[in-house]
Amino acid sequence: MPQATITHRYRFCAAHRLHTDRLSTDENWVTFGKCNNPNGHGHNYVVFVSVTGDMDPITHQVLNGQRLDEIVQRTVVQRFDHRDLNQDVEFSTQTTTGENLVRLIWDLLVQEIPTGRLSKVGLIETRDNYFEYSGLPQDRQKKDEVRHG
Ligand code: NI
Repeated sequence: MPQATITHRYRFCAAHRLHTDRLSTDENWVTFGKCNNPNGHGHNYVVFVSVTGDMDPITHQVLNGQRLDEIVQRTVVQRFDHRDLNQDVEFSTQTTTGENLVRLIWDLLVQEIPTGRLSKVGLIETRDNYFEYSGLPQDRQKKDEVRHG
């Protein structure tokens, strides 16, 4: 069965502040610089969601694009667009780094997208910043099992 990957792009705008209660005020400033500004700042985030798998024998799609859009809009875009990320419940004990945000987006999507199909999430934070996450090694193992099922 031929496999393919589709990637869709999404956007949301959100505010955040890089700060951790585990460091002192000075240490936060040294670590995060101007991103630690108490008033926060915003980003126009761009999210790439990649889905990999066998193509449906009839539609020749890995996953219906409209279905993917519906899942990502409902799970990710509506949750974060025009919000303060630091107020999100998942960030109550975690810093809103790009690393943590891309991982959270993965964790939200992997519950919604058919098992083993989510292959990568990419996140652009600024012109020169890009983060990506592909799950834990055991997730990739699961993916292989589904593929070779
Ligand atoms: Ni920032």
